[in-house]
Amino acid sequence: MGWKQAYGVWAKFMTASSLMVVVLAAGMGTRMKSSHAKVMHQVGGKAMLGHVLGLAASLGADECAVVVGPVMDEARELVMSYSGDQPSKDQIPSVQIFEQTERLGTAHAVLAATEALKQRHDGHVLVLYGDTPLLTQAAIDGLVQELEAGASVGVLGFEANDPTGYGRLIRGGDGGLEAIVEEKDATETEKLVTLCNSGVMGFKASSMLELLESVGNDNANGEYYLTDAVQLARGKGLSAVVTVCDEEDVLGVNDRVQLSEAEAIFQRRARESAQRGGATLIDPESVFFAADTIIGRDVVIEPHVYFGPNVSIGDDVTIHGFSHIEGAEIEAGAVIGPFARLRPGARLGEGAKVGNFCEIKNADIGPGAKVNHLTYIGDAEIGAKANIGAGTITCNYDGFFKHKTIIGAESFVGSNSSLIAPVTLGNGCYIGSGSVITDNVPDDALAVTRADKRVMETWAARYRRSQQRKKDALTAKKS
Ligand code: UD1
Ligand code: MG
Repeated sequence: MGWKQAYGVWAKFMTASSLMVVVLAAGMGTRMKSSHAKVMHQVGGKAMLGHVLGLAASLGADECAVVVGPVMDEARELVMSYSGDQPSKDQIPSVQIFEQTERLGTAHAVLAATEALKQRHDGHVLVLYGDTPLLTQAAIDGLVQELEAGASVGVLGFEANDPTGYGRLIRGGDGGLEAIVEEKDATETEKLVTLCNSGVMGFKASSMLELLESVGNDNANGEYYLTDAVQLARGKGLSAVVTVCDEEDVLGVNDRVQLSEAEAIFQRRARESAQRGGATLIDPESVFFAADTIIGRDVVIEPHVYFGPNVSIGDDVTIHGFSHIEGAEIEAGAVIGPFARLRPGARLGEGAKVGNFCEIKNADIGPGAKVNHLTYIGDAEIGAKANIGAGTITCNYDGFFKHKTIIGAESFVGSNSSLIAPVTLGNGCYIGSGSVITDNVPDDALAVTRADKRVMETWAARYRRSQQRKKDALTAKKS
């Protein structure tokens, strides 16, 4: 961590009070028709739950309690991967998992984390849903500020295009929040309200448990509603406020149609942020990013490029169309594609080139090296300025084990060569086109394994004549 970052974290803790985040993720999501928990489905190549935990981390939460359902091993594993000493964008100092065995409502779900909530006497607790992957820090900042300013309960609301199904936010004459009424319990007049509950709620830690423990289940669903906390707070003379965000920030995902809607919004935002960060996207709509794609300045991305997780791209990189890139580190000035595939562990040095129909996996392509056409480079190290001819294949797999190919700097591999790993080619060596190289080649040497050329004068002409005679004889017989 640089001093600026360290200062940022310190400053945040000096000015803001402590924050705990509770994430509700107990729903299996039957409408997803999946054997994976709903919150594990991905948006931008990252589990929805990961988006929410990442948000909790960037809000500077010092504690996070995640409420899961029974048998959610993948979700549990993901949650624990966020546990770390330093509050930062992907670490939270204290992470705990609680299981809600029976789904008795959102208040009941939060109360599954009672043991953790009991320990919180200061600061605030924010409740987030694990299936709301598009929520941003900017959307939630106002709510956090209201809590900092002394509100006991805060609700993030939005103006719904179609409010059906959402809890309605009922405001009093003073502009404060009076109650949240669920659709099923709402009167006809209440149903006309379009300001809805996003589900995101914040509480002053000191009064939260008492409020939640007094929530009952006397409603149309017979559930313990977290939303009842608003009315209960008002009854005790505590303040409840609403802050408003955009509907798309709080889009909840219940099925795969909504998952693709969330993906589309995520992609639109990622494209805009890449462009605002200095990348040119010739046809933004055909470029797909992952949640963690890092892009430098003056990067040009042509149409139909896909980024899987874990890709970083330096400045001045050009990515030609139809390239598929995941788990790759690309340094400044590199040129990729068209039709290139970079798989996990591909590292391209400054100014390296990987051209059409090339696949690179777990390999370093040195600065200025060129792998321009129809080549597979796997488990390899390619030195600076080496030139790998068209159709070169590193034969890295023997059916059981993977082996390494090392190619020295400024060496030249002739087209259509097979390099049978493990094998090391020295610096500055030449490999004759069409060679099959099974063992090491010293620096500056030429290795060539072609059979000597044999020329038989007039052979082809004689062959053609003889074949034609046979064919003519057969046709004569038939007619
Ligand atoms: C909830 C809100 C509603 C709001 C809407 C926004 C309540 C009572 N209602 O309604 O005001 O407009 O969200 O989308 O809170 N969950 C559990 N355990 C449970 C119940 C729910 O973990 O026992 C989790 C779900 O997995 C989900 C979230 O809590 O992530 C919300 O539950 P859901 O059943 O979708 O609530 P809604 O009826 O949509
Ligand atoms: Mg819902």
